Amino acid sequence: MDSLLNPVTATLAPYPMEELTLLGKALRQQGKTVYDFGTGDPTLPTWEPIRNELIKSVPTISQYPSVIGSETLRAAHYAYLKRRFNLSLGEEELYIVPAQGSKEAIFHIALCLVGRAGGRRKILYPDPGYPVYRTSALFAGGLPSPVTLKAEDNYLLCPWKLPRAQTQGAAAIWVNYPHNPTGAIADESYWRQLIAWCHQEDVILLADDCYVDLYSPLLDGVGAAGSPQTPLVYSRDRVLSFMSLSKRSGMTGYRAGFIAGDPRILKGFARARANFGLGQPSFIQAAAAVAWSDDAHVEARKKIFAERMQLAGKALQQWGLLDAIPQATFYLWCRVPKSARGDDLAFCRTLAHKGIVASPSSWLSEGIKGYFRLALVPSDEQIREALPILGGCL
Ligand SMILES: Cc1ncc(COP(=O)(O)O)c(C=O)c1O
Repeated sequence: MDSLLNPVTATLAPYPMEELTLLGKALRQQGKTVYDFGTGDPTLPTWEPIRNELIKSVPTISQYPSVIGSETLRAAHYAYLKRRFNLSLGEEELYIVPAQGSKEAIFHIALCLVGRAGGRRKILYPDPGYPVYRTSALFAGGLPSPVTLKAEDNYLLCPWKLPRAQTQGAAAIWVNYPHNPTGAIADESYWRQLIAWCHQEDVILLADDCYVDLYSPLLDGVGAAGSPQTPLVYSRDRVLSFMSLSKRSGMTGYRAGFIAGDPRILKGFARARANFGLGQPSFIQAAAAVAWSDDAHVEARKKIFAERMQLAGKALQQWGLLDAIPQATFYLWCRVPKSARGDDLAFCRTLAHKGIVASPSSWLSEGIKGYFRLALVPSDEQIREALPILGGCL
């Protein structure tokens, strides 16, 4: 068997979210009521004009889409960046490539960066964090280099604090603010320091910005901008931002996003993508353009998640499992109760027996134990039902 697959594929662990889906399915088959806090998949309807545009846009004859997308979609991307971040730059200063959600873009960028600058192979990334930072580096022949995020650094990845041996040979660094799973947000001074470090060390800054629009309407304390920012606001030099409609508009099933940033990198990336077979279907492009062009439906989503964060966050604080309620994302990163003696896998198993699906930190990290993540995607009513059940497991 091992001789039929390369070592990276042969030794790959199951993808955590697939395990969670299977767990939910198994519980349902046992006839249990399932409260699925596992994967950050939406359960709210997609905004109707987006659905209508998709249906209207299915052509009689469907042809190969282009890698760089339609004029309408490109204009919608640039207009969004202008409205949301006050970025009004042309293609020569800020290039954009559409993506089929950010996951594939995160995966594929490694193919173009590993080996750059005289053979640099290392990719730095946050731990806990999105698993594809690591696996993309592995598949691209790179060297994954996880950096454990610490509460005392507000979960900010600070490469300047790392030993030289760890940062030497870095081709790129991933950061993700607002952060899955901790909900941490980066402020302007952090972005400026990180960008300065990247420029000094010639490291490409890869900002996974898929939660940038999912923050509390009451958020304050992130500087003059008053909302989470993309590092593109401060520099385009060696900076790429990965944007997605999955969380902003609850459109995980559409697979729609884009990468924006340094044209010297992204024009090469677009050339490479012509080989990947990743043009976005024209009807998805049309629906995505409608979604990027509207902010009202995003405001409504923000409000819903902010209320859920308060509802569940307060209960978890009372039980001593959560210090502060995050002001962004829809995740709660909680300590397992004392009774579980730091065993996140055992605690999540206990929850599963009661019908609650949560992600153990062992599945979302490379060795962080004693935490679990709740994605607040079940309905308000389900969250209200699930909380006392969870409280009964402590
Ligand atoms: C941090 C992070 N990055 C990227 C993604 C991928 O999202 P998508 O491919 O749906 O845009 C997710 C999905 O949950 C995520 O949590």
